[in-house]
Amino acid sequence: MKNKDSYHHLRGESLFVDDVNVQQGTLHALVFDSSKAHGTIKHIDYSAALAVPGVIRILTAENIPGKNQIGGIIPDEPLFATNQVHFMGQPIALIVATSERIAKKARACIKITIDELPVVTGAKEAFDKNLFVAAPRAFTLGDTSKAFDACDMVIEDSVFSNGQEHLYLETQGAYAVPQEQGNIKIYSSTQGPTAVQKMTAQVLGIPMHKIEVDVNRLGGGFGGKEDQATPWAVMASLAAFVLKKPVKLILNRHDDMRMTGKRHPYESTFKIGLDKDYKIKAFEVYFYQNSGAAADLSPAIAERTLFHATNSYFIPNVSTTVYNCKTNLPPNTAFRGFGGPQGMFVIESAIQKAAEQLQVPAYKIQEQNLIQENDSFSYGQIAKQALATKSWKTSFDSFAIPSKIAAINTFNKANKTIKKGYALMPICFGISFTNTPMNHARALVHIYQDGSVGVSTGAVEMGQSVNTKMLKVTALELGITIDKVKIETTNTTRVANTSPTAASATADLNGKAVQIATKALLNRLKTVAASLLNTSEENIFIEGNCIYQNNVKTAITWEQLVAEAMLRRVALTENGHYATPEIHFDKRKEKGHPFAYHVYGTAFTTVTVDCIRGTYDIDDVSLVHDFGKSMTLGIDTGQVEGALVQGIGWMTMEEIGFDKNGRLQSNALSTYKVPDIFAAPKTIHVQPLETTGHELAIMKSKAVGEPPLMYGIGTYFAIQNAIKAFNPNYKKVFHAPYTPEKVLVDLYDK
Ligand code: MTE
Ligand code: HPA
Ligand code: MOS
Repeated sequence: MKNKDSYHHLRGESLFVDDVNVQQGTLHALVFDSSKAHGTIKHIDYSAALAVPGVIRILTAENIPGKNQIGGIIPDEPLFATNQVHFMGQPIALIVATSERIAKKARACIKITIDELPVVTGAKEAFDKNLFVAAPRAFTLGDTSKAFDACDMVIEDSVFSNGQEHLYLETQGAYAVPQEQGNIKIYSSTQGPTAVQKMTAQVLGIPMHKIEVDVNRLGGGFGGKEDQATPWAVMASLAAFVLKKPVKLILNRHDDMRMTGKRHPYESTFKIGLDKDYKIKAFEVYFYQNSGAAADLSPAIAERTLFHATNSYFIPNVSTTVYNCKTNLPPNTAFRGFGGPQGMFVIESAIQKAAEQLQVPAYKIQEQNLIQENDSFSYGQIAKQALATKSWKTSFDSFAIPSKIAAINTFNKANKTIKKGYALMPICFGISFTNTPMNHARALVHIYQDGSVGVSTGAVEMGQSVNTKMLKVTALELGITIDKVKIETTNTTRVANTSPTAASATADLNGKAVQIATKALLNRLKTVAASLLNTSEENIFIEGNCIYQNNVKTAITWEQLVAEAMLRRVALTENGHYATPEIHFDKRKEKGHPFAYHVYGTAFTTVTVDCIRGTYDIDDVSLVHDFGKSMTLGIDTGQVEGALVQGIGWMTMEEIGFDKNGRLQSNALSTYKVPDIFAAPKTIHVQPLETTGHELAIMKSKAVGEPPLMYGIGTYFAIQNAIKAFNPNYKKVFHAPYTPEKVLVDLYDK
């Protein structure tokens, strides 16, 4: 089944926020933001800006009728800065004008005086100064101090991974339209319609029911619109509320890159202990998360880092601690993997370091420590249907990995200035929001009297094809063809109190809610059919818009059945509510069963490094992935490929730079490079692992959005091994991304 939207995307017909037909009299807004990363606002002079013809109003914190507060987990983030500014790009005011061009002209006329305060940009630097956005968290299993004493080998080192710009094609934006009696309708490019609704209500000081948030689709989110789509929607709404005019606020790319948070950079230190059989006996890590200037989702992201700090390995003694370090950068936020990738990069680095010391290929250590059935994760969940070894073995068999490794070694002996490298990267990713109360969803299903069906859920379409999945679930459950089903926009008036579209769990949660609703509707319709056919409900089944009795097609069509149900005054609407069973987590003990299930896989990456230039090609990534029983294999394979390349970008070429003053240097597509077709692997092989799937996955088709991003981590180590083949003096260092500049330096490191 193809993505329902592809055809319309290709023709440019799909609608995004900026394509919504604006009403007459619509005003355009632009954010005035801080030009300093830290300081006290002494004076702002708006007079010249207000004098620009076409400028309607400049709104600041003083114009907020409710609370000047949009912090999601911790209330530490004002919508508009008042006395102090904490990062460059922090919003201070909103310029509302008759056009965006005029607003821009006005922005250049605002005069601001800021008394500068010391700027902190590094996580460890913030840690040393005791600057945090939240309290630290720690997971422990066994007793590491005792275990290290008994190890044959103990290694310590530090690891750095940088941030990552989301670079959704559609920048942040919203369009707020006043309705009668002070109500507001917001069109928003958000992963979290309820977050937008809730924060708008809070800032305007009005109840949530006065605000309707509507989301048609996103031109990508990747986590960047889970919480950080909110401020722009709130600002547009504030202006619409105050001025009683429709207001549109779409960030241009520069503003978006400067004002929004990114993936969290992490500085980490590890200690790993092994015995002589390569068994990892103990592992200790301190993660210093660069949270930025406010909490945003950082505490939840830090938590997921701990959940994935041992990746797909069983380690009997673990001690992991994470600090949310407060810096003067834009608040960092959710990004595909949600802290998991940063955690996994550290354990994989530790294994690489150990392998270097032991002078064995790293995969020998990886292989020895894969998590097995009934092993415990550090957070107490017991591994069930563990597929680490199965996916590992399948990749070795299917891709003839030993002979490929031999060929690489032969190549490296024969070539002096060009070297090949390889790495294996297993993954294990937990599915569910780590915050148990968020794991629920609803679906509202209408069967119209002509037999067509409309489905509303809390799922937001952002390119991952969740709408196509909802379409398939509905059609299959009702026994009708997909042309009968329409997936409606995501709207807070139709489906309320939704969790954001995130954690890769959207299709599971919302799909199960659709199943609950459609099952109830189907049962009612079967009762009508049974009465028409003078039989009992068990004998009825529906497929392809036809009604069957005892597996024999009857003359009754779906349309006729629905029409009859209508005459009999049967309810043709149902609301399904689903909450993931079995999951729980005790934050005081840091133990529980937080995940519905885990997704596994193994990737084998090969690269070629030009040892004169430091440039590299990614020759191939061949991977075995646990889709469960994929319900849409083409779509899911696309998710794997996209996530893989995004992970490779994070590990190799995407380099975010802030200067000492907290100014973003990589602030445009000329200075921030994401993989294009030439940087992507020359070939990608995605082989589905044969499994039975999981009951808690929608139709046993496992969540796929985030886990494969972490296959990209293998690229870092493949490059490293090619460097090692060229320069035996090279001591492995862990400072992602491995840009060609860094590779060149390391090739000639003495
Ligand atoms: N795929 C596309 N094309 N665009 C996106 O923005 N976001 C990713 C992933 N795949 C994203 C994507 C992220 S961060 C998540 S959490 C999941 O999709 C969310 O959707 P799902 O829960 O339906 O998998
Ligand atoms: N994943 C993604 N987004 C989230 C989570 C999570 O576990 N928790 C809160 N937001
Ligand atoms: Mo995805 S980072 O959970 O939006």
